[in-house]
Amino acid sequence: MCKLVIASINMSKAIAILTGFLFALISLDSCAGYSAHGRPPRPITDAVLARQLVHQSNWAAVGSISHNEKTTDYPMVNVIAVDDSALNGSSTGRVHFLLADFDFTGADALHNNKVTFFFSEEQTGSCNKRGVNPMEPACPRIMISGRVHKLDTKIPEYNDYMEAFNKRHKHSKIWVEAHNFYLSELEIDNIYIVAYQGGPRTINAEDYYNAHL
Ligand SMILES: *[C@@H]1O[C@H](CO)[C@@H](O)[C@H](O)[C@H]1NC(C)=O
Repeated sequence: MCKLVIASINMSKAIAILTGFLFALISLDSCAGYSAHGRPPRPITDAVLARQLVHQSNWAAVGSISHNEKTTDYPMVNVIAVDDSALNGSSTGRVHFLLADFDFTGADALHNNKVTFFFSEEQTGSCNKRGVNPMEPACPRIMISGRVHKLDTKIPEYNDYMEAFNKRHKHSKIWVEAHNFYLSELEIDNIYIVAYQGGPRTINAEDYYNAHL
């Protein structure tokens, strides 16, 4: 479990005379702290980490600008099933999802198609297993802002995307056939990442798509 190790170090004599200070060093190495101390298990670029978070997630929390009469102009959040797989299961980074016009996100996107998709490593439960709170940077998260782009069913890749999606989401065929859900892709405008040290950073879309898992 988490352990807080506190060590006191005597300053050199000269400084000690001037200041009389003891410096306390707080080592949080055994418990990733909120600000600076979490470390990735191995060196990894932000873009690769973002791609991993997207690929391993079956769903995202999605924020939209509400157009619903009770919550007009409030941010609205929803759970949306996602998949970024090619037909062979490999990661493409392209965030695909099904929307319906009657659901919160689909209805909002008809009026304002700007949305933000949120992914956290905690979606796999691994932060909790490490004793890390999902709010801490040691539990990496990304916020991908972009626009909802409804995919044309006639594009050559459409069937592959849909089939890949159906593989991951067993009932999604029924959503499309019986409830008029339509496949969409997120056109990425900005990615923020909060992971380990250094505060929030941006990843541009090109670096994200070019990253190799
Ligand atoms: C999987 O499919 C993608 C897209 O068609 C391709 O680029 C990639 O090389 C394939 N990977 C494997 C391991 O076959």
